[in-house]
Amino acid sequence: MDFKNKSIISIRDMKRDEIDFIIKSAEILQDNWKNYKDYLKDRILGTLFFEPSTRTRISFETAMKRLGGMVVGFSAPEGSSLAKGENLIDTVRVIENYCDAIVLRHPLEGAARLAANYVKIPVINAGTGAEEHPTQALLDLYTIFKEKGGIDGLNIALLGDLKYGRTVHSLTYALSNYKVKLTLVSPPLMKIREEIIEDLKNKRIKITETSSLDEVINEIDVLYVTRIQRERFADATEYERVKGSYRIELKTLKNAKKDLIIMHPLPRLEEISQEVDYTNHAVYFKQVKYGLIVRMAILLLIFGFELK
Ligand code: CP
Repeated sequence: MDFKNKSIISIRDMKRDEIDFIIKSAEILQDNWKNYKDYLKDRILGTLFFEPSTRTRISFETAMKRLGGMVVGFSAPEGSSLAKGENLIDTVRVIENYCDAIVLRHPLEGAARLAANYVKIPVINAGTGAEEHPTQALLDLYTIFKEKGGIDGLNIALLGDLKYGRTVHSLTYALSNYKVKLTLVSPPLMKIREEIIEDLKNKRIKITETSSLDEVINEIDVLYVTRIQRERFADATEYERVKGSYRIELKTLKNAKKDLIIMHPLPRLEEISQEVDYTNHAVYFKQVKYGLIVRMAILLLIFGFELK
């Protein structure tokens, strides 16, 4: 499988064997990453973040540094010439003269693909508006794979803001490559985009939608919780109507399977009570650790190294 110099723009561009290859590569790396600590010596990653981030930006930076590479970039547009009105295309055309790959987060859907069309170096989409967050989906699948021993056959529920949550959009498309039962649980105003359901009609995944987690809590193997994406609402009153409409507490889990895992891309606001953190169900901080490994694997692969 050859990822050398390839951009990662959308999870929809990836076939199952490619996703499985990344999962397998991450698994090889997990216990042996120190063997690769100089592999990216002399490589420079540009991290261009036009929106806030803690995990994605810092995990890519950590991944690059753990592999011997270097990182340049900005964490907010105010610190760059964007503040003077420079456009995205000119920005990435400049950065490709300094760097060997770009990690880009941008509020506009389609921004990562646009950027990739103008440069010769790989572009990794680190989140574009409410559209996609493909490396999050890859680390989510890796988390499920590691915690449940596989992905096929699982009963998975995605809970929360499925309308604006880019992580759930990418994860839904990613899971459509597997034989899973997917339940989409959201307040009626926050249902997933109709086009995604349409796109996946003929895939092997079985999708149902509900607004009640109680209806399915006893059946599911994985509960993936997301926050309400306040920053994406055009109408503040719409946000007020859905704010606080779901919350996972110990009592919510009363009928859950003993081995249910609870995931969250983070940041977490009020949607998971902190008491849940101390149960065996909570894997969202392990998910962060898996994310670092997956991003290390992705960087090695796009720089042309195969993990064996
Ligand atoms: N999960 C995620 O994308 O987190 P950040 O916004 O902190 O990068």
